[in-house]
Amino acid sequence: MNMHSSDATTAEEAIAAQEALPPLTNEDATRVAMQNTLLTPRFYTTDFDEMDAIDVTPVRAEWDKLIAQMKADPNKGHFKKTDDWDHVDWNGMEPKLKAEFIDFLISSCTAEFSGCVLYKEMKRRGSNEDITTLFQLMARDEARHAGFINDALREAGIAVNLGFLTQAKKYTYFRPKFIYYATYLSEKIGYARYITIFRHLEAHPEKRFHPIFKWFREWCNDEFSHGEAFALLMKTDPALTESRVNKLWIKFFLTAVFATMWVRDHQRPEFHKALGVDPAWYGQEVFRKTSEITRQVFPMTLDIDHPRWEPTLNRIQAANVQIAAGERQGGLRGKLKALGGRIRAGANFVSLLTIPVQKNAVPDSPRLEPVY
Ligand SMILES: [Fe+2]
Ligand SMILES: [Fe+2]
Repeated sequence: MNMHSSDATTAEEAIAAQEALPPLTNEDATRVAMQNTLLTPRFYTTDFDEMDAIDVTPVRAEWDKLIAQMKADPNKGHFKKTDDWDHVDWNGMEPKLKAEFIDFLISSCTAEFSGCVLYKEMKRRGSNEDITTLFQLMARDEARHAGFINDALREAGIAVNLGFLTQAKKYTYFRPKFIYYATYLSEKIGYARYITIFRHLEAHPEKRFHPIFKWFREWCNDEFSHGEAFALLMKTDPALTESRVNKLWIKFFLTAVFATMWVRDHQRPEFHKALGVDPAWYGQEVFRKTSEITRQVFPMTLDIDHPRWEPTLNRIQAANVQIAAGERQGGLRGKLKALGGRIRAGANFVSLLTIPVQKNAVPDSPRLEPVY
């Protein structure tokens, strides 16, 4: 038997292992993965030369420790189906839940793969050994994660065509510093999301309607390490987190990432009902954990208990429902409705940005261990 993506030591091997599986051309899944909206996972490209020039000397001791941990590869072989993988009754699944869950899996697979593509490219283009080593290790992990989600999708007769996606999906350019903020946050919020669901299902195993959730603990530890690497990268240049302009950017990214998660999760009511999770509770819980973690490197946290925070997120969510309804309706009236929704969403996003932040004194050493 050929190698499975979970045993691969590089992203290239993992992708090849996935591509070697029986062809399942599912145009629908790939079409969903191809979407580029404000709410769907994107693929990024950046100034690779600038990133290649990073000197990790100021954080050398912690850097070497982290890289050694990642090289030791505790999760090698983890991301594949074992006897713990319970039978999934896809045909018996309530249709609305099935649709939302498949959408969740496709979007998670795309997000994992988006990380893989960016990291793999950085590895390929760079010549700085510290940087290329890190990015090759992270690309390896993300390729395994995406491969595993694709294994789960395959049981439902669906798969995302990863090779095609790499070629055909549109890439969004971000300056390196925006890559740091956005990717650091997405790794840390990914950790917080996976571990919150894992702990919830540990307490309520009867709600675990799919076996993939059993894999979330080791999974989130990978994301945690990736986030640690970006925290160290940001520590190499104090201006990245301390200059006035960059503080504003950090606030912007925190707000955008949190608001996007809120809106996306509220689009999947049946999925959250099946898990026994209230999306508002889940959102706030994930924001709380993420905020606590980001204190390692960001000089502020958002005030998620501010009286305007949740109501404003809900208004953005409502505006988003209006946009979707307008787009479905089509014609001039539909277009106007969608436009109205966009203006409302934008105005409320600006309102979120006016909530004062809570200042944070950043510790000298950023390193953390996963504790949730
Ligand atoms: Fe991942
Ligand atoms: Fe990651």
